[in-house]
Amino acid sequence: MKTLRSVLVWPLLALVGTCAPELFEDAATVCDKCVCVVANRTLFSYDLLDCSRRNLAHMISGWPDRFETANPDREIVLSLSGNRLQTLQQLPATNTTLVFSCRHCELAEVSAGLFLDTPNILRVDLSWNSLTGEALHAGVFRGPHQEPGNFRPLPLDLLDLEANAIAALADDTFQHVAGSLRHLSLARNPLGQIADGTARALEQLVHLRFLNLAYASLTAIDEQTFQGMDALRELYLEGNQLTAIPAAVFHLTSLHFLELSENPIEVLEFPRRLAQLQYLNVSSMPVLRAVEIDTFTNVESLKMMICRNNSALEVFDLLILQHLPSLHELDLSQSGLKHLHDAAKSKPSEEPVGSKRYSNSLDLLMLSENPLHCDCELQQVLEHVGFEFMPSYVEEDETRCETPYVLTSMHVGDLFHIEVCTRPFFDVPNNSVYEKPAFLRPGAIFLSLLSVAIVVGLGIIIGLVIVCLKRRLKAHGLGFTSPVRYTSVRDSMMSTVYQP
Ligand SMILES: *[C@@H]1O[C@H](CO)[C@@H](O)[C@H](O)[C@H]1NC(C)=O
Ligand SMILES: *[C@@H]1O[C@H](CO)[C@@H](O)[C@H](O)[C@H]1NC(C)=O
Ligand SMILES: *[C@@H]1O[C@H](CO)[C@@H](O)[C@H](O)[C@H]1NC(C)=O
Ligand SMILES: *[C@@H]1O[C@H](CO)[C@@H](O)[C@H](O)[C@H]1NC(C)=O
Ligand SMILES: *[C@@H]1O[C@H](CO)[C@@H](O)[C@H](O)[C@H]1NC(C)=O
Repeated sequence: MKTLRSVLVWPLLALVGTCAPELFEDAATVCDKCVCVVANRTLFSYDLLDCSRRNLAHMISGWPDRFETANPDREIVLSLSGNRLQTLQQLPATNTTLVFSCRHCELAEVSAGLFLDTPNILRVDLSWNSLTGEALHAGVFRGPHQEPGNFRPLPLDLLDLEANAIAALADDTFQHVAGSLRHLSLARNPLGQIADGTARALEQLVHLRFLNLAYASLTAIDEQTFQGMDALRELYLEGNQLTAIPAAVFHLTSLHFLELSENPIEVLEFPRRLAQLQYLNVSSMPVLRAVEIDTFTNVESLKMMICRNNSALEVFDLLILQHLPSLHELDLSQSGLKHLHDAAKSKPSEEPVGSKRYSNSLDLLMLSENPLHCDCELQQVLEHVGFEFMPSYVEEDETRCETPYVLTSMHVGDLFHIEVCTRPFFDVPNNSVYEKPAFLRPGAIFLSLLSVAIVVGLGIIIGLVIVCLKRRLKAHGLGFTSPVRYTSVRDSMMSTVYQP
């Protein structure tokens, strides 16, 4: 019986072995090729194996001898980044906490049970590879067997899948790490939209605190996707094709940080509440043309708003401040801003100075590189918000007026030193009417012409007189050009000395 088994089994194993040789980098020599560091610190000890860009073709077969692999209180950091592995094989066994990265590894495939022998895997970075949704199936993130048919969940905290080829995920992709995953990046994957399997895969990640979906060609996000994510604090959605803030976002009750730049949003609105939101970036939106004042009632905790480089935005009404009592920093630079109040809605002059509608905590208002129209209203708005006392008032050199013509290039801070409200020409609604500078007024022009005429006339008269005089002298033989007659000195000398 035994012989029969070996007769049957061994050739089979040999066959499998030759068909799919599982090659690994030899652990015994790996410290010759890579950087191996054993760091014993009082507070935090770790072992580092840095094999980045070492021309490895395979996973290492084990850990260097000097690494301690049994102690769960220690940590191993392994980097295989920059090696052309193409297929990622199972990691060698260790009970330590493990931090693993394989960026730019040209990965297209990943072994199932990648972390079977590394039950304390903490952070994994597989960014900048060619992994698809199919390659990243649930089996990849499976932990060790616990009971038959059951797996121990992995304590994975961070998973970076940025810049891969994921178009969609299966429902169960994250089922073994859903209990622990707090940071996930799917940025720069061709996701298109978060729907179906992808949406259901994300739905399970209720402990997420950080989610990056930037530059993922997103046009839509299923509303259910973020429903249970009550811990999510940071969401990155920049560089997508969103035309409004997706409704799903308003399920994120703990959201503190929202990055929305580079989306084709035309009108910025918060139709529902984001009570915890403190930081908002809405920069580089080429079609953003309106920011609604009243919708900021739904984000009343906002502390910092970055709204730079929005060339289509001509009006940004600072009346939003009435809804944002905690806003400390507002960056409106490099945009198309002409006005900081919406003339159609109200006039800042109607508000008493220090009025509640403009009362605020602003420490910094950045307005540089905008074609500002420096009129009475702008002065009043800036007065209301205390622009004079902000650092940008002194330091920022490029905060200048563009119109009206007489004030072009004047620093906006200097607007406080001139009387823009009492001079009549500023009150005329037609912007192109302005008082001409002194040298362009009709009286001045006439005087200038007259003095020129007098000078020219005098010149002509004097010239004529000189010509006439010359002619006359010539006619009388006394002209300057008539020959001078000299008496010869020698003749007169001789005549006196040699007097015969
Ligand atoms: C580091 O500490 C461990 C025990 O925690 C010890 O076994 C090992 O020899 C130490 N290594 C170095 C390089 O000091
Ligand atoms: C890890 O711990 C388990 C028991 O908890 C043990 O069976 C296994 O051999 C350990 N592995 C290593 C690499 O120390
Ligand atoms: C806001 O977004 C813009 C455009 O994506 C980016 O350049 C800028 O660094 C962001 N600002 C901050 C403070 O993160
Ligand atoms: C400004 O926004 C445009 C898109 O509207 C973008 O192409 C450009 O890179 C941005 N510039 C800066 C300095 O962020
Ligand atoms: C301003 O007034 C001039 C004539 O006084 C007119 O030609 C021009 O169209 C007006 N511009 C605007 C913006 O109203």
